[in-house]
Amino acid sequence: MKKICIVGASGKLGQYMVQHALDRGYEVVGVCRERSVGKLDGFKGRITIFPGATNDREVIRQAVARCDGVLTVLAPWGVQQYSSGTAQAVMDFAAPGARLIFSCGCHISLDVKDVYSWKLRAIVKYAGGLARFLRLAELDDQVEACRRIFASNTRWTVVRGSDLEEGESHGLPVWSRHVGDSILESNLTRRVDFALFMVAAVENDELIHECPAIVGCRTPSALTIKTGG
Ligand SMILES: NC(=O)c1ccc[n+]([C@@H]2O[C@H](COP(=O)([O-])OP(=O)(O)OC[C@H]3O[C@@H](n4cnc5c(N)ncnc54)[C@H](OP(=O)(O)O)[C@@H]3O)[C@@H](O)[C@H]2O)c1
Repeated sequence: MKKICIVGASGKLGQYMVQHALDRGYEVVGVCRERSVGKLDGFKGRITIFPGATNDREVIRQAVARCDGVLTVLAPWGVQQYSSGTAQAVMDFAAPGARLIFSCGCHISLDVKDVYSWKLRAIVKYAGGLARFLRLAELDDQVEACRRIFASNTRWTVVRGSDLEEGESHGLPVWSRHVGDSILESNLTRRVDFALFMVAAVENDELIHECPAIVGCRTPSALTIKTGG
């Protein structure tokens, strides 16, 4: 059986990823903060949990050992290089050849071809600055984490989410290489389907060294492009 580690397993996205991974028959290992272990009670007996900060290198070293895939929630919380520390530890300790899938926001850019709306630019500039001032979040550190991932020789995929909503699955989201592409215009994905995309990416070699921006497969922009309308 293939083994998968989910780093940030207790969050909303993380829990959906655990469920999808179990549904696909993977052996699942999860990493989450000690105080959040209880959020995974629903999976008791079915997964192995390594409690600790996700940027704790020793915790990550143990958790990713012998895993075929590592799915990491890159969360921009705190101001202690949480995202970049997490990504670095995963890259340093994952087995050679393991598939590494990271989640992030759409403000991350692999090349200069993304086109951002004024609204998103304003959110990143002003909300990001305020969050940093209040020591809540560090959007720049997610950028730094991704810079290191892109420069690595690991088998990475960085999945960029749209706005997220709850609700039952609509199926695998569609994706595009660049923010601003018309298929992404609806800018909405069910969180359960964001998780599905992350888990499915483990077996999809076409996504290696890609930074897909995703959108729900039943959103108007996805349907319009698919039907050629
Ligand atoms: N929310 C959106 O609209 C949106 C849009 C696009 C992309 N994304 C991306 O999707 C991913 C997760 O998004 P989500 O909205 O679904 O959130 P989520 O699953 O609830 O994930 C939040 C994660 O951050 C951790 N966390 C929360 N507060 C923390 C703190 N103070 N210090 C350290 N860790 C903390 C949580 O761990 P605990 O369980 O321990 O609290 C959890 O692992 C991220 O990669 C994000 O960049 C989100």
